[in-house]
Order: sequence, then C-alpha cells, then structure tokens
Amino acid sequence: MERDLQLGMKCLNLKKGKNASNGSNGKIESHLEQNSESVNRDPSIFMGAQGVGISVYVLYYKDKRKGFQSFIIRIRFIVSLAMENSATTLLNSSLHESTVSSSSFTTLLSFLSTLVVMAFALYQLFKFLFLGNEKAKQPPLPPLLLKPWPILGSLPEMVLNKPTFRWILELMKEINTDIACIRFGNVHVIPVTCPEISRQILKEQDAVFASRPISMSTDVTTKGYLTTALVPLGDQWKKMKKILLIDLLSPTRHRWLHEKRVEEADHLVRYVYNLCKTSDKGGLVNVRVASQQYCGNVPRKLFFNRRFFGEGKEDGGPGFEEEEHVSALFTILAYLYSFCLSDYIPCLRGLDLDGHEKVMDEVLQIVGKYHDPIIEKRIQQWEKGEKKGVEDLLDVLITLRDDNDKPVLIEEEIKAQITEFMIATVDNPSNAFEWALAEMLNQPEILEKATMEIDSVVGRERLVQESDFPKLNYVKACAREAFRLHPIAPFNVPHVSVADTTVANYFIPKGSHVLLSRTALGRNPKVWDEPLKYKPERHLKEDGSPVSLNEADLRFISFSTGMRGCKGILLGTSMTVMLFARLLQCFSWSIPPNEKTINLTEAKENLFLAKPLVVVAKPRLPSNVYPA
Ligand code: HEM
Repeated sequence: MERDLQLGMKCLNLKKGKNASNGSNGKIESHLEQNSESVNRDPSIFMGAQGVGISVYVLYYKDKRKGFQSFIIRIRFIVSLAMENSATTLLNSSLHESTVSSSSFTTLLSFLSTLVVMAFALYQLFKFLFLGNEKAKQPPLPPLLLKPWPILGSLPEMVLNKPTFRWILELMKEINTDIACIRFGNVHVIPVTCPEISRQILKEQDAVFASRPISMSTDVTTKGYLTTALVPLGDQWKKMKKILLIDLLSPTRHRWLHEKRVEEADHLVRYVYNLCKTSDKGGLVNVRVASQQYCGNVPRKLFFNRRFFGEGKEDGGPGFEEEEHVSALFTILAYLYSFCLSDYIPCLRGLDLDGHEKVMDEVLQIVGKYHDPIIEKRIQQWEKGEKKGVEDLLDVLITLRDDNDKPVLIEEEIKAQITEFMIATVDNPSNAFEWALAEMLNQPEILEKATMEIDSVVGRERLVQESDFPKLNYVKACAREAFRLHPIAPFNVPHVSVADTTVANYFIPKGSHVLLSRTALGRNPKVWDEPLKYKPERHLKEDGSPVSLNEADLRFISFSTGMRGCKGILLGTSMTVMLFARLLQCFSWSIPPNEKTINLTEAKENLFLAKPLVVVAKPRLPSNVYPA
C-alpha cells in the first residue's frame, strides 16, 4: 500500500509542468499496466467551455505481485478563471497548469466544478474503501476443484472427463470436502455431498436457492420455459405450480383419478401374469420393461385416458409405440442438465459441438408425434362443443378458465406441461423397483419379509390396494431404501442462487448452480451405517409409526424439500408403493437357473443397474385373483 501511495504521489508530481490535456503519464501508465490485472478508469469529466475543463479519473488496480487492490486518484484540471478565491487553490497550486482568466461566471463555474471534482473523488475513495472492507470481510468461495482457465473455466477438463458426475465426486473425494466450487464458463457450479449443508441450502435459505438454470435441454423441453419443474423462478413458475398443486395433483384430484391408477396396476399384474404362463416353472420377466411401462401407462391414462398409442402387444406388453415413447422420455431425462457446453457458453448454442441438440430435437419430435395429435384434436373437440364432460387431466387443462372466462393455458403450455409431467413420473418408481428386486434376490430374507407383510395385511384372496398402504411399512421401507442407495439421478435438479449468499462459511455468488449429490448423500458413511448395504430395516421406527418415502431432512433425496421440492409426492408415492406391493404380492421371484446371484454392478455412464434385470416370476395367488 505504501508503495502505491508513493506511486500516487509520484503520479501527481510527474504531472507538474506537463501539458494537462495530454491526459496521462506514460511511465506510470506502463507501470500500472505491467503490474496490474485490471486498470479501471472512470472517464474524464469535462466541463468543456472554451478551454475550461476538469478531468478526473481514479485508477484501481490489483497489484499482481502483492495481490491486493490499490488505487490512485488522479485529478487533472484546466481552469479558466481568476483563482484568488477559488477553492482549487486549496488543493495544490502546483496542479494548475494554465490559467486563462476572466468573468465571474467562469469563476463560479470553476468553483462549482472543483466541488464536483472533490465530491466525486471522495465518493470514489469511500466506495473503494467500503468495497475493500466488504471484500476483506467476504468469506472465500468453496474449495476450487480445479484452477479455471480464462473464459472457459474448467470446461476443457469437463469435456475430457465423462461422466461428469463421477469425475466431480472423485475430485471432491481427493480434497476431502463436502462442498466445492468448479467453474464452467463463468458459472460457479457448487456440488454438495452432506446433509447439513444441503439443509442450509434448501431449508434455511430456500428462497435464495429457488431458481433453476437456463439450459439448452430445458429450453427445448419446456417450449421456452412454459412449465413448472424446469423453469427459473418467476411468474410462469408460479402460474404452473398453482395449476399443478390445485388442478392436477391435489388430494381431491388424486381421489378423482383413483380408478385410472387401479386400472394400470391391474394391467401390470395381467401383463406379468401372461409372461409367467410361458412355462410351468414361471417365465422370464424383464423387470425394467415391466416397471418402466407401468410408469408410462399411468400418466398416459391420467392425461389421455388411454394406455397405448398403438395396439400394444397381445400379452398386454408395450407395443413399438409405447416402447419408443418411454425410451424418448428417458433420453430427455438423460440429457437434462447434462453438462452441455452451450449451457455455460451460450454463444455456442446452434453449433451443437457435443451433439446434445440433435438428440434432444429427435426425442422431442418422437414425444410430439404421440402427444400433439391427441392434444390438438381434443382442443378442437372442446372448441366445437363436441366434448362436454371432463374425463381426464387433458380435459382439465383445456377447460381451465380465468376470471374473465378466458382459457388459462395456451396450446403450447398444455403440450409442454404434459411432457414435463411424463418425465417427472416415469423414472424414479421404475428404477427403484428394479434395483430393490435385484438387491432382494441377493438377500432373499428381505424379499420374504416384504411378501409376508403383504400377506398378513392383505391376504391372498384379493389384490393389494392403495387403502392398504398405511399398513405396509416394510414394503415402504424397501422402496425408501432403494431411493437412498440407488437414486435414478446423480444430482438433485439444480438450484440457482438468486442473490449472493454464504453457506457453510463459504461465499456463494448469485447465479451459482447448486448440485446436491444424491449418491453422496444417500451413501454418506457419516450418516448411514453400512451405507452400501441394502437394509430396509434402517427406516423402520421403533414405535412402529408410519414410514414415508419422503426425506425432508435431506439425508438422502427422494422428493427433496422446500419451494422447489417435488409437487407429485402423493402420486409418486402411490405409483411406487403400488409397483412394489403388486409385484411382490402376485409373484414369487427367483434368480434364473444359470446365474448364482444377481450382478449388482452399476452402469458407468448413469446409475442404472448395468444390465436390465431379467428374472423368473411365478404366480403365487389363486388364479381367480389375477385380473382377466
Ligand atoms: C417417486 C416419484 C418421484 C420422485 C422420487 C420425485 C422426486 C423429485 C425431486 C427430487 C425433485 C427436485 C426437487 C428439488 O429441486 O429440490 C422433484 C421435483 C418435482 N417433481 Fe417430482 N418426483 C416424483 C414424482 C413426481 C410426479 C409423479 C410428479 C407429477 C407431476 C412430480 C412433479 C414434480 C415437480 C413439478 C417438481 C418441481 C417442483 C418445482 O420446481 O417447483 N414428481 N421431484
């Protein structure tokens, strides 16, 4: 600092006797430029009247060698006045470089100008000192995982280290931190692996972290942010959230849709039962196909009042159309928030350097090919008065009216929201059941315990129903344990900070993308005993109180919590527990004869079981109980 002040003085002294309009001293400028990262000049102020001029600029610079900010205030002025009474003389007569002369107007002008100069200089000085203090007080960023390159941040490394989620978690392990910072472009990405910090973010500072990132994949999926889950904080999010909570997912609506859910639960049993019939010893069932199709059939029934877009298969399984539809939904999910280059350097959008845009375009066309004709036809039916009764959720969305009896939603909003609803529904329950069954087959005592619970609560003479769920604590614990140990997504849906803030004593700048790691939370050895073991008992309470699939304390992530927490807990729970309960009640499951145990290896590029689970199912209830 001492050196800088000397420099400042030198600056003023060097100016003595030089032509004021020259504006700067070459030596000092070059010293600053050589030794500073940035020189920030406030523009000169010129009062410009017949050679009357004042030039002020303040130089801030960060000394590269010393590493702190310093400043020089440089005042340069040319005054055309009689200076006797001028306050300028108070400053330093040596600074006057020319004195021209005359009228009282110019005297006044000069005096006022000087005041302005001094006020401005003081303001800049205070601003500098204040900011300096703030900066000094400001905590550091979370530990940097990599030293960022200029402009690109750590994007080059990101491109070279796929899958990005495994690489980020490895880097965090290496430096043993629960919160970190990695810069992609100019975005601060903040991964978090422990529940305490997660709670600070989603509970204590929920409102600060309530936005979502802008990204190529969310933009195209939501038709320009017309939906709920993938939309940044704002009026559209509020509007759609209200519609979801009141019109699509409220407890009343849930009851209204009960029959449709039961139809799909029955159909799931019918389909697997048909697969069993291929042999006396039971049939091979691809559990991934069965559970994913159930999770696709339910929302199709809820919105479009139909299970199949095409004919389906004779055994009740998905036809080509349903397989293509569900596969497109999973591809959308895989590409959402998938570390696409243009999400961090937006000017790259359109160049499609990593191929994400082409894939998204293709799969959204597939989804549109199935959804759009149904939606468009239905809108027309309502417009022409051909349809009267509200029969499904599509009718609900089309018939929503505002206070002026105008439609609340335009066609694009309906289309985008239905796609988002489908992707929100299809993945978590199906993945949880596939993993849970794989784990249970390697620990048959758990499978036995879950089946026995259903037998004791429901019996073998009827199919399990939603009204039985409150008594199925062990089955729910099995589902909960699958969410803990085998989440479908590596990170929670990203949250974006809407203001600068501090978390865990680290500074989190506004606009940061916070990623709570679902695997690191659920498998955290500081929280979970034997974290890698599938052990549903850990979720049972001693007092026998009800087990919920929700985990608001964020010791793992199922539905998350706070303003951006899941809006579909009721439906998501119903679908998940039904999938578990029906398939465990109706069939005995076993490992195929040619395999000893189920291989529980996780896929490298995502968190699925590496190979789809294909195992033997055998009916275990009297044949009259199975739906015809
Ligand atoms: C078992 C099934 C489900 C699970 C495990 C699940 C989980 C989640 C999670 C982890 C989030 C992110 C929360 C956050 O950002 O902190 C989320 C958000 C959301 N989920 Fe679900 N979900 C499920 C089913 C559903 C269903 C059936 C719907 C129905 C539409 C749904 C609608 C939503 C919505 C709208 C959001 C975003 C809320 C917002 O951003 O305001 N979810 N869900």
